[in-house]
Amino acid sequence: MSRAILVGLGPRSYQVRVGAGLIDAAGEAVTPLIKRRRTAIVTDETVWGLHGARLMGSLTRAGIAATPIVVAPGEQTKSFEGLAEVTDRLLALELDRGDVIVAFGGGVVGDLAGFAAAIYKRGIDFVQIPTTLLAQVDSSVGGKTAIDTPRGKNLVGAFHQPRLVLADLDVLSSLPEREMRAGYAEVIKYGLLGDFAFFEWLEANGAAVLAREAVALSQAVARSVEMKAEIVEEDEIEQGRRALLNLGHTFGHALESETGYGEALLHGEAVGAGMALAFRFSAAQGLCDAQEAARATAAIAAAGLPTRLSDIRAEPFAAERLVRHMAQDKKAQDGRLTFILARRLGEAFVAKDVDAAAVTQFLKSEGAA
Ligand code: GLY
Repeated sequence: MSRAILVGLGPRSYQVRVGAGLIDAAGEAVTPLIKRRRTAIVTDETVWGLHGARLMGSLTRAGIAATPIVVAPGEQTKSFEGLAEVTDRLLALELDRGDVIVAFGGGVVGDLAGFAAAIYKRGIDFVQIPTTLLAQVDSSVGGKTAIDTPRGKNLVGAFHQPRLVLADLDVLSSLPEREMRAGYAEVIKYGLLGDFAFFEWLEANGAAVLAREAVALSQAVARSVEMKAEIVEEDEIEQGRRALLNLGHTFGHALESETGYGEALLHGEAVGAGMALAFRFSAAQGLCDAQEAARATAAIAAAGLPTRLSDIRAEPFAAERLVRHMAQDKKAQDGRLTFILARRLGEAFVAKDVDAAAVTQFLKSEGAA
């Protein structure tokens, strides 16, 4: 059983299908989108090893000749070098604008393949088959594609919507526990930013989602995608409301910068801590009730995610360094800090003129040096 959620963007509208067994039916799903029965699958070694045979089998049964482009797993692949490799392989395969490429993996593969699709021969269609919880509920939906540069993450990219997203819940059963929890941070994010009833549902059912119980997992992914679709429909290129999806990201990116964007702190973990900090900062500023901030913190902690600076590392972070990272963040405009803050559980807002000194003081109250 699968559910289909429409991302309604006029001529760029597409479905996000959420359910079990979708990879086995990918060939049928892709067939109406392609002119020639051929495609390239951009994937990474880990995903290809685990699930490649299922996808190849499905495409082959549909008579589609697919060539895998297998990149190294990890954030370092989301680079100009990685992009050059993928686009060169696409050129060698002589794919043209009537063809479709498939992004098969987590957020790194989706962002890289999506950006390659955005610029290859001035734009080619692509299908997202996300294989992590984070990619299913966030990065595969909404058309943000990018690579990193030595100056920061996601600094070179394009909005390029996929033609179809297949979120196959079966693949999550092989996802490492830590990555599952990291992806779950983005699920709680939707409840915290805009749907109190969903937040309450997650308080009650979060453990079942993390245990990958089929009904709870399907409900969590589908509701997250519905919320993302609704926000993207209203604000495709992030002129306003879409920025709410960055709840926890300003604090989170600063923490990721300080910890080296790697295994020490996964992106979703940084978002978990960042959301807890954003709620407590909102409370410290008198914008949100302290009890609501404590409840947000408790729900994030219950998922095994960090909520305090000391959960991330014993050595104190330097408050000024964290704030400097925030000022360099691409969301900062004219030197003022932009944060997503909260009025209450289920109601976040964009705060464009946050005082850096208040953030520094708050971080010190949270144990930063
Ligand atoms: N991941 C945030 C967004 O898609 O806007």
